Amino acid sequence: EKGGWSSFMRKEISEEPDAVANTLLGRVVDGAVVLPELGALTPEVLADIDRIVIIACGTAAYAGLLGSYAIESWARVPVQVELSHEFRYRNPIITPRTLVVSISQSGETMDTLMAVRFAAESGARVLSICNTQGSSIPRESEAVIYTHAGPEVAVASTKAFVAQVTALYLLGLHLATVRGTLSPAELAHNIDELQAIPAKLADVLVASEDIGQLAGWMADTRSVLFLGRNVGYPVALEGALKLKELAYIHAEGFAAGELKHGPIALIEPGQIVFVIVPSPRDPSSLHPKVVSNIQEIRARGARVIAIAEKGDAAVLPFADEVIPIPLASPMFEPILAVVPLHIFALELATAKGLDVDQPRNLAKSVTVE
Ligand code: M6R
Repeated sequence: EKGGWSSFMRKEISEEPDAVANTLLGRVVDGAVVLPELGALTPEVLADIDRIVIIACGTAAYAGLLGSYAIESWARVPVQVELSHEFRYRNPIITPRTLVVSISQSGETMDTLMAVRFAAESGARVLSICNTQGSSIPRESEAVIYTHAGPEVAVASTKAFVAQVTALYLLGLHLATVRGTLSPAELAHNIDELQAIPAKLADVLVASEDIGQLAGWMADTRSVLFLGRNVGYPVALEGALKLKELAYIHAEGFAAGELKHGPIALIEPGQIVFVIVPSPRDPSSLHPKVVSNIQEIRARGARVIAIAEKGDAAVLPFADEVIPIPLASPMFEPILAVVPLHIFALELATAKGLDVDQPRNLAKSVTVE
């Protein structure tokens, strides 16, 4: 039930902190990740895996893309992300040392179910991340990590996304443990960061209260671009998808480094561009590069809305608006940065008088291929 909320989507966004907290519940014990549900995917099996293929559609695929950065970085195993409907048509290379990880909120997405079946028949080990107990995809998988986001009713996936990323991060830290690729101190640091996310998400919800006004003056806009880099890139893709499906606006997410390779031609005066800015504390020095992207598009008249770490003074002179997010390690920032984009899509669709829970032409679960 909607309770006092104006829409399921608004209610479900407000539940994003709980979705993460509940997905973590019982899975960190004495400072270690504990996933007994992995069953046959024992530490020995997981230590021997030489490649991971993540399969999913839509928002779940963007969660997968984000998870791929974390798993590769922590567990030092190559991770490839494939849209489920592309996967089996490319004659993929699968061996008994391939771990296929499917991600699905509903557990009923036909494209993902078929890809899971194909992977199992081809001899891969198959793990699923799913939000719906007893649904079809878990039934055909060797093991399941359930996300505990609670029922998601709105067509647009929001709280399931942050729960999927949480499950992938738990998996990444478990793989790092069994493969010995992170030091005890690094493991402890990342587990602490993950456990701190629900409280920070609650802060983001408070800091995002003015996004309705922002969306108000944009109600007539016809195109919005999203730029992100590294772990900010999947966030850009997710922000664009949400805007397309809810507000029926042309929206595209780009890797910021790709700007000069084509998309900058789209920038004309008044073009709205959201930029997910990496932390100035990020040791990879991506921050100055993204700030320079902002200067480039600003010089061509773009209106820039930056999602940046609280206190990031470098973006202030160049952004029309800054949405602040709490401090977190670089790998964890995207879980916080995505929430303002969920809210923006909701508010813009609301400003346009659209049905946010049931956008046109879409179904909550796509049970046909
Ligand atoms: O139930 P699933 O997670 O398998 O669904 C996958 C996509 O259909 C879904 O995420 C879709 O992209 C959402 N409507 C996005 O908000």
